[in-house]
Amino acid sequence: MVGYAFMGAAHSQGWRTAGRVFDLPLRPRLAAVAGRDGAAVRAAAAQHGWAAAETDWRALVARDDVQLVDICTPGDSHAEIAVAALDAGKHVLCEKPLANSVAEAEAMASAAERARARGQTAMVGFNYRRVPAIAYARRLIAEGRLGTLRHLRLAYLQDWLVDPDFPLTWRLRREHAGSGALGDLGAHIVDLAQHLAGEPVTGVSALAETFVRERPLPAGDPGRRGRVTVDDAALFTGRLASGALASFEATRMAAGRKNALRLEINGERGSLAFDMERLNELSFHDHTEPPASSGFRRILVTEPDHPYLDAWWPPGHGLGYEHTFVHQARDLLLAVAGGAPAAPSFADGLQVQRVLAAVEESAEKNAVYTPVPVPA
Ligand SMILES: NC(=O)c1ccc[n+]([C@@H]2O[C@H](COP(=O)([O-])OP(=O)(O)OC[C@H]3O[C@@H](n4cnc5c(N)ncnc54)[C@H](O)[C@@H]3O)[C@@H](O)[C@H]2O)c1
Repeated sequence: MVGYAFMGAAHSQGWRTAGRVFDLPLRPRLAAVAGRDGAAVRAAAAQHGWAAAETDWRALVARDDVQLVDICTPGDSHAEIAVAALDAGKHVLCEKPLANSVAEAEAMASAAERARARGQTAMVGFNYRRVPAIAYARRLIAEGRLGTLRHLRLAYLQDWLVDPDFPLTWRLRREHAGSGALGDLGAHIVDLAQHLAGEPVTGVSALAETFVRERPLPAGDPGRRGRVTVDDAALFTGRLASGALASFEATRMAAGRKNALRLEINGERGSLAFDMERLNELSFHDHTEPPASSGFRRILVTEPDHPYLDAWWPPGHGLGYEHTFVHQARDLLLAVAGGAPAAPSFADGLQVQRVLAAVEESAEKNAVYTPVPVPA
């Protein structure tokens, strides 16, 4: 694993737990973690259960006891590490957004395609696909319970940038993060829209804004401020290939909303609604039922028949955020063991990247409708 802070801790949790909860053909072994600061990476290895520590990701990729490289660094290093790891014969899990640009994502998807021919697997860390309620929503849509989809309404709202004195960390600098709320949060809801609907976004019309344009430099430069070079919020509408319409909101300035990933999907036979702040629940309205007794009902997604739940606790005992990373590790290990392609693939990550690029282009032109290139 490369990088050991927020996602590094969450992924470590996933790798440590997956083989103990699920019956898997492969058991992960936490061989080595890489960072840039020797003392800090050794401490992280001890805390998170990694057997060895490296201070250069290239040394990690070169190790014979590493078969899979898990990339948990900011977007500016994803392409270089992923392509090197794939070319060195390793399987790869890469955090989202796949890259900081479409060109980088294309190079990564090509490397993954070449690697696939050699039996390697590459997956993007769109972990929200692994929330059981969202996986169950996907199942209901695929079974036709919603019929033809008309509207998808997705929002991902957080509030940690409301404070104008929050420091100018890497997430607020284009050269490191690629974009702001758009790539950080918008990438997740674009992936979910395309995954749940089973079809690509084909065009967008977007507005984006940076509300706080200067922030204090992180520790070490007291009193100095620097320019924010990414969006604080991005709002956009889009069309899906089938003609369904979608709306998206990504912001880190929604005071009081902590991790409110919300979606509602309306089809001709019914609707689904979900809120990550109540992640064990899915709301479902079956529009084919008699109007007098129909309406949204709350499904507690903790039954053994629900996705991933047969390996966990008795009904009603509930899962949380960290379990998405256990499920991600499980799904990736099953793909590696079965020689099957993993989803979301790097090609899926590239398609999200194309949507993000179209959103930025549209926002620069004050919401001019901008098509998204969709491969045949
Ligand atoms: N799936 C999710 O829900 C989710 C949530 C948060 C972040 N992310 C993604 O995960 C990635 C990391 O985000 P984070 O929140 O963990 O950030 P973070 O700042 O908490 O951690 C980043 C880590 O990468 C290390 N790092 C940076 N450059 C490096 C390099 N060249 N070599 C080795 N280590 C390097 C840093 O030292 C740090 O340990 C980003 O792509 C982000 O978009 C995904």
